[in-house]
Amino acid sequence: MKAATFPLGLVRALSVFGLSLLNLLIASSAVAQAVDSNARAEEIVQGKCFICHGIDGESSSPVFPRLAGQHSAYMARQLADYRSGKRKSTTMQPMVEDLSTEDFAALGRYFESRQPVKHELGDPELAQVGRFIFMRGNPFSGVAACASCHGERGYGTPQLPRIAGQHAQYTENQLKAFNKRERTNDNAVMHAIASKLSELELKAVSAYLSGMN
Ligand code: HEC
Ligand code: HEC
Repeated sequence: MKAATFPLGLVRALSVFGLSLLNLLIASSAVAQAVDSNARAEEIVQGKCFICHGIDGESSSPVFPRLAGQHSAYMARQLADYRSGKRKSTTMQPMVEDLSTEDFAALGRYFESRQPVKHELGDPELAQVGRFIFMRGNPFSGVAACASCHGERGYGTPQLPRIAGQHAQYTENQLKAFNKRERTNDNAVMHAIASKLSELELKAVSAYLSGMN
């Protein structure tokens, strides 16, 4: 009996050791992959994206969106839509046509992990009107509160974009594009909202968002 249990114990011990060695190998290859994908994202960002969106997603002009803290899944989907032409942009399409779906995921993770910067409001009074629209919508014209989907702090969800801290000019441009059905890759949810915003409401909510952090 004794002679039989010993080798069995040894076999067990060896197999546990073998398994943990295997786990270690799997874990370290996952780490290596993550490092690779981050290095790939850095290479792409430093190669082209930084010119407009900045190294850390703090873009250089109000017409280029800030990307710091944006959700990776949302961003990867937008990049794929630019590549396929589902979301039209003569600026962005050539930026992504030679990139892969894995690159989009890596870029999404890269920008999501950057720290968004806090910005001062240009026109605090206008932003107060925007705050009302954001929190309560316009019950008289049937505009839904932005907060009901994008969250009370404008942080969004993995499927829904973060809109807090965005350049007012970019937000205005997108709301107009949704309204004119020039941005059509979202199943028309935002079209229904943007088409009911007055010019004042559109400018006010964009101003308010730019100061959120
Ligand atoms: C020459 C300037 C320029 C460069 C370089 C550039 N972009 Fe853009 N990017 C833009 C503009 C302009 C838009 C807005 C286009 C639109 O209206 O859809 C945009 C939009 C985006 C969006 C959509 C953001 C959102 O909130 O929906 C993402 C994501 C993005 N860019 C990522 C990238 C990545 C990644 C790279 C590098 C591969 C890159 N961009 C390079 C100008 C640029
Ligand atoms: C019913 C849910 C819902 C409500 C309410 C809503 N949104 Fe959206 N919004 C979305 C979805 C979904 C998207 C993503 C569209 C896509 O995938 O392209 C979006 C996208 C956006 C974008 C594009 C962001 C970017 O980075 O390009 C802006 C800007 C925006 N919403 C602003 C607003 C504002 C302002 C309001 C309030 C007046 C509002 N939204 C209310 C669901 C909503």
